[in-house]
Amino acid sequence: MHKIINHPLIKDKLTRMRKVSTVSTVFRTNLEELTQLMVYEATKDLELNEIEIETPVVKNAKGYKLKNKICLIPILRAGIGMVDGVKSLIPTATIGHIGLYRNEETLKPVEYFKKFPKNISESDVIILDPMLATGGSVVEAVNIIKKYNPKSIKFVCIVAAPEGLEYVQKIHPDVDVYIAALDDKLNENGYITPGLGDAGDRIFGTK
Ligand code: URA
Repeated sequence: MHKIINHPLIKDKLTRMRKVSTVSTVFRTNLEELTQLMVYEATKDLELNEIEIETPVVKNAKGYKLKNKICLIPILRAGIGMVDGVKSLIPTATIGHIGLYRNEETLKPVEYFKKFPKNISESDVIILDPMLATGGSVVEAVNIIKKYNPKSIKFVCIVAAPEGLEYVQKIHPDVDVYIAALDDKLNENGYITPGLGDAGDRIFGTK
């Protein structure tokens, strides 16, 4: 399943991020806020346990608690720019990291860094990466994460290319993909068009 989250705040924030004139600090803030809105949607179907609580007024009131732990896994480097926004929404979420680079001969993603929290098999995992371009990185990230048997895996991105989305859904149809905007295509340099440029460079002010 994939879902394009259609919301005026998302469109407004994404437009600010797309503009070439937007400086790094503003880009980052908008990315964090936009990610919060995306994750609000992506977590709508999380399972709850019913619990009993005491309020200042009554002894036995009905309350709810998330059934599973939540583990955020940003794909390095640009995914890091999405973590703080989600953490302020779900402070108890644990965080793992995956770093992948592209082998220039095989063109396949290769893992260079991986560090996961211990409880991943008890967690709903949310993978974070702002750009879904060819889909190679996220497909490999899911391959790696699936070996740890999490309760579920979702992928939250901001801008997707149709070819990348198709590839992820073909290889991992069980992973729900949440997107702020489905753009036109990848250009000859591998950038999403119209896109927003290199998300990592724009987040961290590098070139
Ligand atoms: N990664 C980016 O940061 N931007 C693109 O357009 C494609 C991949």
